[in-house]
Amino acid sequence: MSKVAKDYTRITTNSLSEMKQRGEKIAMLTAYDFTLAGIVDKAGIDIILVGDSASNVMAGHETTLPITLDQMIYHASGVIRGVERALVVVDLPFGSYQSDSKEALRSAIRIMKEAGAHAVKLEGGSQIKESIVRILQAGIPVMGHLGLTPQSIYKFGTYTVRAKKESEAIQLIEDAKMLEEIGCFGIVLEKIPAKLAAKVAREVNIPIIGIGAGNEVDGQVLVLHDMLGMSTEFSPRFLRRYLDLNKEITEAVRSYALDVKSHDFPNDKEQY
Ligand code: KIV
Repeated sequence: MSKVAKDYTRITTNSLSEMKQRGEKIAMLTAYDFTLAGIVDKAGIDIILVGDSASNVMAGHETTLPITLDQMIYHASGVIRGVERALVVVDLPFGSYQSDSKEALRSAIRIMKEAGAHAVKLEGGSQIKESIVRILQAGIPVMGHLGLTPQSIYKFGTYTVRAKKESEAIQLIEDAKMLEEIGCFGIVLEKIPAKLAAKVAREVNIPIIGIGAGNEVDGQVLVLHDMLGMSTEFSPRFLRRYLDLNKEITEAVRSYALDVKSHDFPNDKEQY
């Protein structure tokens, strides 16, 4: 059976590296389900992250800690079915990789095999080096995540800007260089000073994707529901809202309820 020619080129870790080399910014967003992932993909986003932020935005938990590996696989499977072009990266959730490197590899394999993901993302630097190496050795692409690492929220107690102290900034740069050296294809830097993020982007050759990390990095990531304005409570400085979907959805739902209650819906043309 011959395959139909596609009018898009699939994004790979190599294409991301080439984008960095030629100075083309990388656009990344989260998605957690088939329908929205399909829209995001067709709109031209390069990387779709099935983030463990699903724990907050999809399940209503206060932190990212409760979401399980099975739940991440469920979200990721839907996303994969909706995506044709973007590289789909899936977060290893809290508790699925911290015990030891064998557990980390088992979790990463489940995400690749059961969800059909293209890559995984893990939070942390030197303390999880062994796990990342083991996953990479199995041929699974890994993205790092440094700076604010929400899975460690109870260690730090706040979601404030990270690596403001010189010692923390030095550690972060060392961690970023280590992640590059062992073979990660990219790193997310969350909520750190813009100057520090710019230095990391200059000093490592793999793509650096920022969230609250300024403009002098290789790309940006936002949580889809935040940039669409679905949530109203979360308003960090780095968030740009492109829609006020909370308002739009509320108005649409109210209109529907009114139409039903006033016997207006369905009308003659809307029935059989
Ligand atoms: O889980 C997530 O959505 C993330 C992004 C904030 C980078 O890790």
